[in-house]
Amino acid sequence: LAKQKEELINLHKDCFEYFREQLYLRKNIEAVKYIIKRRIAKDTAKRFGLGFCPEKNDLYDRLSQKYSKEIIDLSGIFLERNGKNYCRFEGRLIFPIFDTMNRVIAFGGRIISDASAAPKYMNSPDTLIFSKSRILYGLNIAKQSKENEFVVVEGYMDVIALHQEGIDNAVGVLGTALTQDHSFLLRRYKNEVVLCLDSDEAGKKAAIRSADILYQNGLMVRVMELEGAKDPDEYIKRFGKDAFLLKKQNSMFVIDYKVKELKNQYDLTKSDQKFRFVREYFEKILIPISNEVERQEYIKKLSDLTGVNENVISKEFSKTTQK
Ligand code: UTP
Ligand code: MN
Ligand code: MN
Ligand code: MN
Ligand code: MN
Repeated sequence: LAKQKEELINLHKDCFEYFREQLYLRKNIEAVKYIIKRRIAKDTAKRFGLGFCPEKNDLYDRLSQKYSKEIIDLSGIFLERNGKNYCRFEGRLIFPIFDTMNRVIAFGGRIISDASAAPKYMNSPDTLIFSKSRILYGLNIAKQSKENEFVVVEGYMDVIALHQEGIDNAVGVLGTALTQDHSFLLRRYKNEVVLCLDSDEAGKKAAIRSADILYQNGLMVRVMELEGAKDPDEYIKRFGKDAFLLKKQNSMFVIDYKVKELKNQYDLTKSDQKFRFVREYFEKILIPISNEVERQEYIKKLSDLTGVNENVISKEFSKTTQK
């Protein structure tokens, strides 16, 4: 197993070098054009090791000269079609995924024509050396940041855009749900996280779920909201670094963010809605808080929001939790 892992690491390194060389070949000018269109600077592309996998390539044959079929199959890089092996990243811009020791352990690939019907991104499947729920894109760089927090974003492009603007503590969850393993990984380096997920409904839902997981694993979590842009990449390109940093400064503590989102679902001037709000507040806000000081603070807040006496809330809350 150790031997297989080592070979897989070597194979990924070879692929990485191949993809990187391809990016700068004249015949693959479309890929460079795409990078320019996304406003990724040359040195940024270099820092992230971006590459390209041409439609027509001899990657499988090259690798066959050096690695067994078994190892090549285990890499997850190739798919079989009509008895022929082809690279799953054909025609895609390549984002190598590094572990914290700076070894390439997987790839992501993006289509370079938005007219294409193919899925926008293609990623390596989980392998002996790669597990999507245990990797954070960009952590190999961000772990060295002097900031005392991480900025967690959704995608490759978000990480790259933020780093390009000097926000060197950005890491990406690559579209998957944030896991406990991600929390452990982050906590190895810093104990604060600012979540900056996409501003669509999916992103908002994920923000609450992710924030809960991070908070329950001992991280201080704040949630950032981006108005006027669908994700951090678009935001920073449209409004600039200073606007982004200001937003970050104004990001809300996770519980305040949850209260705000919950409050928006109810009309507290109507009794029945107010009662349902109180129940949900118990469920979603108060129960998950394990620290009594913090809980007291949010009982006071509930009292402020509803006009219900604090002592009454406290009494009812202890009744609820004793059941
Ligand atoms: P998004 O759909 O938000 O894409 O997915 P994006 O990162 O903003 O992409 P651009 O800006 O159009 O290039 C966020 C992340 O989810 C994963 C990728 O890691 C992506 O960066 N994803 C998304 C996939 O794995 N497959 C997909 O088809 C789409
Ligand atoms: Mn701080
Ligand atoms: Mn998204
Ligand atoms: Mn995007
Ligand atoms: Mn996005």
